[in-house]
Amino acid sequence: MKMIVTGANGFIGTHTIEGLLEKGYNVEAVDVRTERLKQFSDNERFTVHEMDILDKDFKSLIEMGDKVLHLAAIARFETAEDNPQRAVRVNVEGTLNVIQACLERKAQRLVYSSTGSVYSLGASVPIREDAPREPSSLYGLTKKMAEDWIMFYGSQLPYVILRYGYIYGKGKDWGAVGAFLKRLSNNQQPVVFGGDQTNDFVYVKDVVKANLLALETVYTNQAYNIGTARATSIRDVCEYCIKAMKSDLKMKIEPARSFDYAIFVYDISRARTLLRFEPEWNVLNGIANMVKES
Ligand SMILES: NC(=O)c1ccc[n+]([C@@H]2O[C@H](COP(=O)([O-])OP(=O)(O)OC[C@H]3O[C@@H](n4cnc5c(N)ncnc54)[C@H](O)[C@@H]3O)[C@@H](O)[C@H]2O)c1
Repeated sequence: MKMIVTGANGFIGTHTIEGLLEKGYNVEAVDVRTERLKQFSDNERFTVHEMDILDKDFKSLIEMGDKVLHLAAIARFETAEDNPQRAVRVNVEGTLNVIQACLERKAQRLVYSSTGSVYSLGASVPIREDAPREPSSLYGLTKKMAEDWIMFYGSQLPYVILRYGYIYGKGKDWGAVGAFLKRLSNNQQPVVFGGDQTNDFVYVKDVVKANLLALETVYTNQAYNIGTARATSIRDVCEYCIKAMKSDLKMKIEPARSFDYAIFVYDISRARTLLRFEPEWNVLNGIANMVKES
C-alpha cells in the first residue's frame, strides 16, 4: 500500500510529503511541475510522476489498496477568476478523473483538500461543517462542486474531506501572512485591506498533521473543518509579522475587499473528537517559527 499525493509540488504538498516520508510511508507524488520535489529524490520510498491529473493514464499509478491525497488544484482566487474554464477543468473534472481512477483501481480511500471558501459569507460563527455551502467566489464554487462529486461516489469510495482554514507557512509568499512578510523583507510597508475582518489562521505544520490523521482515520465519509478555532484579525496578523521581522515599518491600510469574510472562525470539535486533531500552533508562534525557518 502506498500514498499517492496529487499537487505534490505545491505549498501544502511539499510539506505533506516531508511528513509522510518521516512517518515511513511509501509515497508517489504527482504534479505537472516537479522542481520542488527534487529535495526528496534520495529517499528510496519516494517516486515522482510529472503528470496532469486530467491525463487518462493517471489511473495507472494506482494499485488496489492505495490511498490518495488529492491536493492538485487551481488554488488561488485570482487564477480561477482569470480563467474559470481552466479552474473547472482542473478543480472539478480533474477531481472526477481522480475519483474514477480510484474506483477503477480500487483505491482504499480519497482524502480531499477543500476550503472554508465553500461556506456562505453569512455563515454563523463559529462555522460548523453543516453550515450552508454557498460559495461567494468562483474558486469556492469549484471546490464545492468537487466535494459534491466525492460525496456522490461516497458509497463506493470512502472519502475524507478536509476544509482547511487560512493556511500560512514556509513556501507561501502570498495571502495575508506571506505577502506581509515578503513586503517587510523588502523593506516595504505591509498593505492591509480593511483590517478588522478575522480569519482562522492555521499553520501548515498543523495541516500536515490533519492530512496524516485523515489518511488513517476510521471515521471516513465526513467533512472536517481544520483550523485553530480562534479568530484573529488581519490587523493583528500584520502586527505579528512586523514583530517577527523586528521591523520598524507601520502597516498601510487600504479599503476592505468584497470577497473577504467579515468574521471567519471554525468550530473544530468534529476534527478534535473524531480525527483526534489538536492544533499545536497559535498564530503568533506560527508566524515566528515561519520567519525562523525561512
Ligand atoms: N493554501 C491554502 O490556504 C488552502 C486553503 C484551503 C484549501 N487549499 C487547497 O489545498 C490544495 C493545495 O493548495 P496549495 O496551497 O498547496 O496550492 P499550490 O498552488 O501551492 O499547489 C497546487 C499544486 O497543484 C498542481 N496542479 C495544478 N493543476 C494540476 C493538474 N492539472 N495536474 C497535476 N497537478 C496540478 C500545481 O502545479 C501545484 O503544485 C488545493 O486543493 C487548495 O484548493 C489550500
